[in-house]
Order: sequence, then C-alpha cells, then structure tokens
Amino acid sequence: MPETPTPTPTPTPTPTPTQRSLAIDNIGSLITNDPTLGRGSLGIIDNASVVIVDGVIEYVGPAGALADDRIDADGACVLPGFVDSHTHLVFAGDRAEEFTARMAGQPYDGGGIRVTTDATRNMSTGALDGLVRQRLAEAHRAGTTTIEIKSGYGLNVVDETRSVEIARRYTTESTFLGAHLLPAEFEGRADDYIHLVCNEMLDAAQPHAKWVDAFCETGAFDADQSRAVLEAGRAAGLGLRLHGNQLGHGPGVQLAVDCGCASVDHCTYLSNSDIEALAGSDTVATFLPAADFSTRQPYGDARRVIDAGATVALASNCNPGSSYTTSISFCIAIAVREMGMTIDEAVQAVTLGGAAALRRTDVGRLTPGSAGHATILDAPTHHHLAYRPGVPLIRQTIGPLGSLDPIRPQRGSTR
Ligand code: NIG
Repeated sequence: MPETPTPTPTPTPTPTPTQRSLAIDNIGSLITNDPTLGRGSLGIIDNASVVIVDGVIEYVGPAGALADDRIDADGACVLPGFVDSHTHLVFAGDRAEEFTARMAGQPYDGGGIRVTTDATRNMSTGALDGLVRQRLAEAHRAGTTTIEIKSGYGLNVVDETRSVEIARRYTTESTFLGAHLLPAEFEGRADDYIHLVCNEMLDAAQPHAKWVDAFCETGAFDADQSRAVLEAGRAAGLGLRLHGNQLGHGPGVQLAVDCGCASVDHCTYLSNSDIEALAGSDTVATFLPAADFSTRQPYGDARRVIDAGATVALASNCNPGSSYTTSISFCIAIAVREMGMTIDEAVQAVTLGGAAALRRTDVGRLTPGSAGHATILDAPTHHHLAYRPGVPLIRQTIGPLGSLDPIRPQRGSTR
C-alpha cells in the first residue's frame, strides 16, 4: 500500500475586504486529483475543507477552515466539477423516433444529422438560445462545471455562425463543426462544401470559436477533407479536435495525432497502430460511451488505451441523435462496467481527462490556485457514482454554469 500523505494544514485565507470567501467544510472524502495532497492517484483527503475566494481555490486541507460563507458537506464526497469536453448542445427538435427504430434493430449511420439541421435552421435564435440554456442547466444539475459546445447543425454560413456564436455566449470552449455532415443541397459536391467550410464559413465562425472539429468517418468526410478543415482552422488560429473511429475502423485517430489535435473523440474502433499512435502523442483519446449505448455500438477499449500510456477522457456527447444525455455519472457507470476502467480512472477521466482534452490546467482538480468548481455528492465516496447507476447523486454543483450568465463575446481574444 502506498503511504498516505498527511495534508499539511494551511492557514485560513484572509481575503481582501471586497472578496467573500466560501468554505465547503466537513467533507468526508475530498477528491483533489493531486497525489501530492492526498491518497492515491486521486489525491483523496478524508475529513477535509476547501476554501474558495473570488472563484479560485485558496485552501485545501483538514476540516474546520473558516470563511465568510460555509457549506456543510455533512460527511459527503466532494470532487472537481465534471469537465464535459464533447457536446453538441445547439440544436432544435429531437430524434426519439430514430432512437426507437434503432432499438428495434435499425443501424445508426449519422444520417439523422440532416433532420436536426432542418429543425435547427428553422428555429429562431432566441428559441435556440433558450434550449441551450435549458440543457446547460440540466448539465449543471448533473455536476458539470466546464463544458465544450459544438456547432454542426447549421451546415451553412448563417446557421453555423449563429450556432457557434450561441455556444460562445456560455462557454469559452466553443467549437466550429461546419464539417459535421454534407448538407442535402451539396449532395454529390462534397469538395465544394469543404471549400465553403474552409473559407467563407470559417471566416464567419472563427471570431466565436476556440476550436475547429470535423467528422472523419465513412459517410461523413474522408481523411483529406478532414485534414483540409483542420489545417484551415489552424491557419485561422483555432485549436484542433476531431471525431474519429466511431462507426468503424478508419483514418481519424492517426489523422488527429498527425495534426496534433488536442483530442480525438469516439475511439470506438481502434487498431493496434491507432493505440500506439495515441500513446506516443499528446492527443487525448476521448471515449463517448453514452453514444455507443444509444447506437448499439460496441464500447471502446479504454483499458488497452490506458495500459498503452495514452491520456483518456470520457464525455457525454450530448446530441439529439446518438447520445441524448448530459449525465456524466451515466458515462462513468458504463466505463466501469463495460470498458475496463477502474472507478478511480473513470472519475479522473471526467475531470482531469476532460481538462486535458481541452488543454486546460485550471479545471478538473481541487488544488490551491485552480478554479473553485466542485460537485458535492449525496454519497460518502466517489465509488457510489458507479455503484449506484441511475441514481441522482449530485447534491450540489458549485461552479460557473450555475449562474448561466452569458459570457460577453470577446472578439479576437478567444485563443
Ligand atoms: O458525435 N458523430 C457525429 N456527430 C454526433 C452525432 C450527431 C447526430 O447523430 O445528430 C456524435 O455522435
């Protein structure tokens, strides 16, 4: 057994008169994600306090810290707010009928993206914004405090731009996904569409986006088309991410590694050389198990990827087609039951892993200096997230999605 580090008591912080401090006290089990602060790879401290001043953690240590305001965790587990690094929250309508047909044996091929595109194009910006707010509130109740949001159901210049602009109102992690699927009006002219995505559409979307993404898959875009989108995004100053290897083996993972993407997402079908490529890179392998659940795909082999030494994240992939859930707890339960992950690995993958997929070091951990984003469970330990599947164990989420205050657009300062 590794020796348990004893946390060094830190003096109670003394905020300046304008700052109010908040103590989360009487924590039964605190997940810091810093092994130097506590037990094991999750850095667990028993009987702990966290003090947050002006949104930033100032103190992590033994219980009893004093502050202006106090939340009594009453012996519960507290962990970093979840970092959901893959969502498609900007959409109208739902596809319950498609899901029902799939459960009756129909395969998933992504073609329903066009159904959602029609609905999204036909909705007013105000109504679309209202739906995003509802979904964010749902995600926040489920413990998420940092979220990535993609466009991808506009598929023309106007609707992609307003989608990514809406996303940017609520998160700095906004992603331009014009290359989600070929819109019907470009049928047979995929290269023309990619030209539009890489030029006029990118120019219009770029001020609102931090990331560019593409769906590299048979039936969506091939490796050359996806590479063109990534390279154009890079030239426009965006960070890179990619959908790959969702519905079958393909070039997505290798392309993502080759282009230096922060993350390649889905990773349901991985060859040995895909896993080797991931392990030798700093591209995070992001698994989306709720999508595999809802499309009756096999689950990704996270165990092999972790054992090979790659960084792994888990995300919800909330979207109306393949994964209509904001529940990170559900993803944890599947990953543990079906993907060979330990509970500690799964909890780390939805916190630190998600942060790595977004190239963030300020979230996904509860350590002095990091963001004061925390989730209080109705449970004594993090094991209950997998042990009690389907039970709403999130008692309180402390973090920025709670206020749902739109971020004011910061043109030119998103990267
Ligand atoms: O990540 N794979 C592509 N995009 C989404 C699905 C979108 C849809 O079916 O509407 C995904 O699974």
